[in-house]
Amino acid sequence: MIEDSLSAAAITDGLATRFIGQEVTCYPRLPSTNDAAKRRAKKGAKEGTVIVAEEQTAGRGRIKRRWLSPPGSIALSIILYPPLAYLPSLIMVASLAVAHSIEQVTNLKTQLKWPNDVLINGKKVCGILVESDVRGDKVDYAVIGIGINVNLKLSEFPQITPVPTSLSRELGREVSRREVVQSLLFRAEKLYLALADGDSVFEQWRDRLVTLGKKVQATSGDASYQGIAESVAADGSLSLRQPDGSLLKIVAGDVTLRR
Ligand code: BTN
Repeated sequence: MIEDSLSAAAITDGLATRFIGQEVTCYPRLPSTNDAAKRRAKKGAKEGTVIVAEEQTAGRGRIKRRWLSPPGSIALSIILYPPLAYLPSLIMVASLAVAHSIEQVTNLKTQLKWPNDVLINGKKVCGILVESDVRGDKVDYAVIGIGINVNLKLSEFPQITPVPTSLSRELGREVSRREVVQSLLFRAEKLYLALADGDSVFEQWRDRLVTLGKKVQATSGDASYQGIAESVAADGSLSLRQPDGSLLKIVAGDVTLRR
């Protein structure tokens, strides 16, 4: 086992950010870091505060799914107070930051799958859950929740489907979670600040999506559609070319790549 402390001191030490990760609270165990972060945001936590858990007992995924994060994984949530116009871009900021950090620390190549998965060799290594509270045209808070399978023996978790991967499985050795977290927070801040400069974050995200141009099965709510994933828009939505030639815009959903 490598020495791999995820204490607040280990994360903030040498972290060259202005605000993301300058305030960190680490817990040995939490039901969900997103829930803890929301509570902290409601009490006025500083922007960029990060909540980390060594283990989550009721981690939440998108579309009411569960998210397993046993010891050895990264489970963290970042508190932000963005303008309303930034909300659709937070998923792009988070996925790009995760992809960059994995590549920087491990040299592994990552892919992004619409809307919010980071894959390695086609298998999911990270999930992202962005939640926000909006009143009128003002965002009270937004929380970016990130779960990464780092040093996980996935054979111990056969219940996870589709079969995921972990950084240690791909590399054949354990990885420093501290390095991944520091790189991730640094990148997330750079990308978040870049949102003020227009759409370059959207373009980077779009250009990394493995989904585009592929035959997919898309689900949105209870409905399921098949077609070619043709394009994405700056609001994060996916346009699906259906077999009858019509174009369907999917705002919230999931896709499975089809052969
Ligand atoms: C998904 O792929 O469905 C999203 C998974 C998001 C999991 C992370 S782990 C940290 C944060 N806390 C949670 O309860 N969920 C997110």
